[in-house]
Amino acid sequence: MAYQKVCAEDALEVGTMAKFKLDGTNVLLYRLEDGYYATQRRCSHMRLPLDKGTIDGDVVQCPFHRARFNIKSGEVDGWASFPPGIQICNVILSEKALKTFPVKVENSEVHIDAAEEALESA
Ligand code: FES
Repeated sequence: MAYQKVCAEDALEVGTMAKFKLDGTNVLLYRLEDGYYATQRRCSHMRLPLDKGTIDGDVVQCPFHRARFNIKSGEVDGWASFPPGIQICNVILSEKALKTFPVKVENSEVHIDAAEEALESA
């Protein structure tokens, strides 16, 4: 475990997200009603940036082909569905959950542990 401080606890509004790079790993931090969560920054569909997407409750929707992911678990809530016909690509690009990262709030600061992912991608 190697938590790193990323921001102050009050830096993000509820329902928003911010991107960080931790030891070479791109991470997306979300503030939901019940706290902070973190996932990989790039969508697992075509690796485009999820930080341009939208948050709806506990779900983030990718702006490109509208895949939806549960922010807390990383699980797919709905796979790529836009534009019409994208489903043909889904034969090759099958559903894949987002990697999630441990987050903790300590001394009014948000910390993320992305060490495991950094090792995997080294
Ligand atoms: S890149 Fe996110 S849905 Fe295609």
